[in-house]
Amino acid sequence: MSAPKKLFIKTYGCQMNVYDSERMAEALGGQGYVETKTADDADMILMNTCHIREKAAEKVYSELGRMKQLKVKKPDLKIGVAGCVAQAEGAEIMRRQPMVDLVVGPQSYHRLPEMEAKIREGKKAIDTDFPEEDKFEKLKSRPKAKRGPTAFLTVQEGCDKFCAFCVVPYTRGAEVSRPVDRILSETRELVERGVREVTLLGQNVNAYHGASANGDLTLAQLIWELDKIDGLERIRFTTSHPNDMMDDLIEAHGTCAKLMPYLHLPVQSGSDKILKRMNRSHTAESYLRVIERIRAARPDILLSGDFIVGFPEETEADFQATLDLVEEVKYGTAYSFKYSTRPGTPAAERPLVDEAEASDRLQRLQALLTRQQREIQESMVGREVGVLLEKPGRLPGQMVGKSDYLHSVHVGDCDRAVGDLARVRIVSSSTNSLAGELIR
Ligand code: 5AD
Ligand code: SF4
Repeated sequence: MSAPKKLFIKTYGCQMNVYDSERMAEALGGQGYVETKTADDADMILMNTCHIREKAAEKVYSELGRMKQLKVKKPDLKIGVAGCVAQAEGAEIMRRQPMVDLVVGPQSYHRLPEMEAKIREGKKAIDTDFPEEDKFEKLKSRPKAKRGPTAFLTVQEGCDKFCAFCVVPYTRGAEVSRPVDRILSETRELVERGVREVTLLGQNVNAYHGASANGDLTLAQLIWELDKIDGLERIRFTTSHPNDMMDDLIEAHGTCAKLMPYLHLPVQSGSDKILKRMNRSHTAESYLRVIERIRAARPDILLSGDFIVGFPEETEADFQATLDLVEEVKYGTAYSFKYSTRPGTPAAERPLVDEAEASDRLQRLQALLTRQQREIQESMVGREVGVLLEKPGRLPGQMVGKSDYLHSVHVGDCDRAVGDLARVRIVSSSTNSLAGELIR
């Protein structure tokens, strides 16, 4: 038998790309590839790209330029581009960088084995279709090896919301939910392999409506099905849209013990004028009402959000409205970005806010969000939380894991195993993590 070929996957962007990269590695495992951690000894390099913000395509081209050197040294090296830049740029990638062998969009990963066979014969392979078949079902050749205690699991993909700034509806396509039984069987397999926590992924995960023998299930109903799986201790989901926070999902946050008290609910802006221009179909007020209902169901929930500053026509008063909303919500963590033009989206045609002004707003917003994050972390000191232990820490006897609220926690003098759900008392807070001690 010939030695296995080595595959290096470089993953950019969101958690869904992380999940996709795992699936691609498994699919190519069937073609005789094993994963390697460096590009230098690889027989195939796959870039799993992200197109969401700022000059993404240009970054991919410059990275490909660097890889060209590797191919000069090793002419048999195969180079592929996957992900949302592959979807958006398509054949253009091969025109600009002819040494690329393979271009595959996110909806065609199940076709990778055939594509690999084709490039092995020296041909080029390109697939950026939106096929009808269920790619994850076709990618299902999972190895049974043990794995870490947390896993991502894509349950829904694509988006029909068409926010004016966003490429997702174009690169990931229309919204599709995976059937319930496949998600349940995949979760059971993950649990057998050592997984204790799943994060359900979707661009619009709370719009989930997957088919089951009893008709379509909502995300909350899916969560209750997962709740029945012995050995699965924690359930999370991301990313949600404010308009799809249904009553049953809000209620589950109060009643489902496995559903963790953390919610990522992007608002983007606190100004109704800007929200309208963003085509967000909610207002600042309706967002705040959703938050109020969630907090009524689960008072200690930690909230996270996404923000865009400097969206076309954002004035200082609009930006103030965003700061006011943040003051009112109090986020435990948040992601904030300067608006960047995405070609092909409705907002791409509109006049930009002055660059220096946008940078200044981003800085002010981030200062406020950082302060809130610190205050919430500090409020955890003295509290008892669950921590799922993920790996040994840097200090002897130390273990690192995530709290129920998704804070990183360093647990000292910890004689417990990876995968254990420990009760921990938080003793201190630093910039991006907490420290705690086991409650014995
Ligand atoms: N410019 C800046 N930020 C963006 N996002 C999406 N598109 C853009 C863009 N064109 C942000 C949004 C979204 C997150 C995933 O990325 O805040 O929620
Ligand atoms: Fe993009 Fe999210 Fe808006 Fe969909 S809901 S268009 S994924 S920002």
